[in-house]
Amino acid sequence: MIGIIAAMNVEMESLRSHIENPESEVISGIRFVRGILDGKEVVTAVCGIGKVFAALCAQTMILHYQPSSIINTGVAGTLTDELGIGSVAVSTAVVQHDMDTSPLGDPVGLISGINKIEIPADRLLSGRMAACAKVMGLKTLSGVIASGDQFVASAERKAYITEKFGAIACEMEGAAIGQVCFVNKVPFCVLRAISDSADGSSHMDYPTFVQMAAQQSVSLLRRFLNA
Ligand code: ADE
Repeated sequence: MIGIIAAMNVEMESLRSHIENPESEVISGIRFVRGILDGKEVVTAVCGIGKVFAALCAQTMILHYQPSSIINTGVAGTLTDELGIGSVAVSTAVVQHDMDTSPLGDPVGLISGINKIEIPADRLLSGRMAACAKVMGLKTLSGVIASGDQFVASAERKAYITEKFGAIACEMEGAAIGQVCFVNKVPFCVLRAISDSADGSSHMDYPTFVQMAAQQSVSLLRRFLNA
């Protein structure tokens, strides 16, 4: 069974509409819907926004459904000119850009308990996802995806995340899901379509493009499941 987590309904509802024989249950306040999607057994969840909800959801999913892998899908802000709105970022690794124990001598972004800054995504999953995107003719880039409990909306913060972590896209859940998957030894991958430029204009881009970008990530995920 493949686990699929999105933060928001807009990133999940059209995907869910294609699930055959859906069975639904609410655990820890999150609705899990399982069934067959494009020939594969899946369990899906809309976790809510931010790292805490994302972690809660991933851990609950792992304990209740034992997915063989987890894919986090949805939208993100771009951190590079190579990724425009509507194009796709695929994780090679994830980082938490708001994790900071540097006053104690640690490097910024270090997650102490696992002693890592970058949590590696599953190479096979990420490679297959990027290959599907290319087949679909989508502009795609693989790289580090940065998560934090903030909507990135300034050139300064965007430059900070890019310079400190070499990340290509920013969002608010992927690295929390990645951390939970790492600890539980569940392969994971983050796939995000770009909805905004994560700078001073992101508050205008985002409402305009979120729907289109969310649909882009759903299309790619369905192609991946079909492959
Ligand atoms: N998700 C989509 N755009 C984002 C941004 N600019 N910052 C954080 N998460 C996002």
